Amino acid sequence: MSTSHKRPVTHLLQEYTPPSYLVETVDLCFRLSPTATSVTSSVRYQRHPDCTALAPLHLDGEELELLSLKLDGVALQKGDYRVSPSSLVIAKVPETFVLEMETRINPQGNTALEGLYLSSGNFCTQCEAEGFRKITYYPDRPDVMARFRVRIEAARDLCPVLLSNGNLVEQGSLDAGWHFAQWEDPFRKPAYLFALVAGDLTCVEDHFTTRSGREILLQIYVEHRNRELCDHAMLSLKKAMKWDEEVYGLEYDLDRYMIVAVDDFNMGAMENKGLNVFNSKYVLARPETATDNDFLGIEAVIGHEYFHNYTGNRVTCRDWFQLSLKEGLTVFRDQEFSADLNSAAVKRIDDVRILRQTQFPEDAGPMAHPVRPASYVEINNFYTVTIYNKGAELIRMQQTLLGKEPFNRGVRHYLKKHDGQAVTTDDFVAALEESSGRDLEQFKRWYSQAGTPRVALTTHYDQKNQEYHLLCRQTCPPTPDQTEKQPFFIPLAVGLLDRDGRDLPIIIKGQQGRQTTRILELNQAEQEFVFEQIPEGAALSPLRGFSAPVILDYPQPDEELALRMAHDSDPFNRWEAAQQLARRELLAALERESDDQPVLSELFVASWCRALVDSEADGNLLTQLLTLPSEVYLGEQMTAIDPGRIHRLRQAARCQLAQAGREQLLLRYHAGSGNELYSLDPQQVGMRSLKNFCLSLLMLQEKTSSIELCLRQYEFAGNMTDRLAALSCLVSSSLPQRETVLEDFYQR
Ligand code: BES
Ligand code: ZN
Repeated sequence: MSTSHKRPVTHLLQEYTPPSYLVETVDLCFRLSPTATSVTSSVRYQRHPDCTALAPLHLDGEELELLSLKLDGVALQKGDYRVSPSSLVIAKVPETFVLEMETRINPQGNTALEGLYLSSGNFCTQCEAEGFRKITYYPDRPDVMARFRVRIEAARDLCPVLLSNGNLVEQGSLDAGWHFAQWEDPFRKPAYLFALVAGDLTCVEDHFTTRSGREILLQIYVEHRNRELCDHAMLSLKKAMKWDEEVYGLEYDLDRYMIVAVDDFNMGAMENKGLNVFNSKYVLARPETATDNDFLGIEAVIGHEYFHNYTGNRVTCRDWFQLSLKEGLTVFRDQEFSADLNSAAVKRIDDVRILRQTQFPEDAGPMAHPVRPASYVEINNFYTVTIYNKGAELIRMQQTLLGKEPFNRGVRHYLKKHDGQAVTTDDFVAALEESSGRDLEQFKRWYSQAGTPRVALTTHYDQKNQEYHLLCRQTCPPTPDQTEKQPFFIPLAVGLLDRDGRDLPIIIKGQQGRQTTRILELNQAEQEFVFEQIPEGAALSPLRGFSAPVILDYPQPDEELALRMAHDSDPFNRWEAAQQLARRELLAALERESDDQPVLSELFVASWCRALVDSEADGNLLTQLLTLPSEVYLGEQMTAIDPGRIHRLRQAARCQLAQAGREQLLLRYHAGSGNELYSLDPQQVGMRSLKNFCLSLLMLQEKTSSIELCLRQYEFAGNMTDRLAALSCLVSSSLPQRETVLEDFYQR
């Protein structure tokens, strides 16, 4: 099943041409058998209005056995068409016609998991990006959208469940123990959203009433043994449906929504219209075996695939260069969904961490590419953190520039204007421009220029005039595909703290407004902003909320970082200040010749202890704030890396904190260990994370009392989060109990 017959071809964005033939309807009939499935198709084509009668019909197809081919009911002769390993071309076709064919495929032999394959004995498809061509010959490109009707026939004992996209319109019995189901999807879609699932699955059902009062049937299909593990996924689905109605006014559009969990799946999940297919790890969960983070991951992925129903399915991509049109936007939507339901600050911190740890290196390396690439060879290699996560940051910046409400209106306008169409990232930006009246022309460089911009800040206080001057310089290093970079349009959110850590209103010379967080619009290589009526000693809080995916160069004095660590009203930046200060001290310690002075300064330890008693802060955020930068992250900042030393010094710093904060750690530990019923309520998740963080520090000293606590938590934990946290403390200790506990965990 290799694709070795394919010669690598470079696809270029600028060579895009519309399809010569459009498709009105597709009728498919599958007769399922593991090694020889028959697929008959009847497709109604229509020549594109801009195309001449001479245009041949080009269909994609791979690893197919063509059994018959008829045009308007007449069998085609050998000379009428040409079959290659990747295509079927018919030289002459009328303006409109129906093409019927039968192909044979081998699902069991399909180990690439693209097209129709078997997973644990069940039939399942995966068509994005170019898998439909392994099912039948078809114009397998996203700008060909059609209405699909699907009939599935199979042996009832082997496949009691027969699913495809849309609504079930008929089902019944056939001879010899076979049965059939007929599905119809009323919405036009590209072939990559086609799906079929058939097998012996059980189904958990629920309902959702939309805000206009329609009742939607919700079904999650899993293997029988997993029936009890679907509650959280179902709850997440209902939350996602409600959220999209409330935030974007988007109501689900079919009568049923199905999710199938399969064990063999290349990705996390797939948004096929009305029939999502999930890797089972993103569906199945219960508190005894899944951690809080596992639960949150499920919620995010369920949300993500659900949100694609509009951003991706109703409005899809013109070509695969536009992949970020649906993925970047949908990642942004799932991020906002998770932020609204859980700790927004920690969600942002986690997302920025992913960006810095994986996307920034991609942008700085040989694989650097723009969010909308200009060329690609293998589309499957283009599902990158740049397309996904940097793409989501571009959407977020546009939200920041427009403001939340105008941005939401813009997205609604985009979805209305292009409903049922296959469009480009330019179309998306144009829709935002139309609805907001803003000019985003320069902003579009973010889509076409790769590389992470660097923004250097220099500040200067003019005491006489009470003015705070901020000089911003942006540069972007060259990437393999582009040497020269034009200045980006960067929304730089800034705040200013007075000496007591209170937000100051920011009055910008030449501009209106006095909000405490202002969005500076950088659009030149160098720009100066002047803030008026600023008292002496103000501390800058730059790039609040990580308002742009840039690397900031602003060496701020320790005292200002400590002040922001205690008071910055922007929770992301409060965390960022703590990290910067900690990083600075840890790196300084690593540079020192000897290890005999304390790693952390009194300033840091005191600030840290003050944060530990901050009873107002959300536990989730506090845990992040109190956690020192990771060993990997520290290593990345060094030219010569000594992992052993990094580990030793970081541990020494943690011991220093554990000692200084011992009593408070104990208090916070006990405050967090109530025995309420397990729930994913953000407050409870925050308590657990803070409690377990405290435990990990307390255990560094291996005092009998802490060991007792830890062993007790391990034994009586009512959920995986607590048990795993205790286990990990015990395993990293030098205690003799570690072996027995590990064995016990394994047995459980
Ligand atoms: N459309 C993708 C899944 C996909 C991509 C399948 C390429 C096959 C080929 C889906 O919407 C997606 O992005 N899934 C993510 C999870 C999501 C939460 C970012 C995944 O599968 O990792
Ligand atoms: Zn996606």
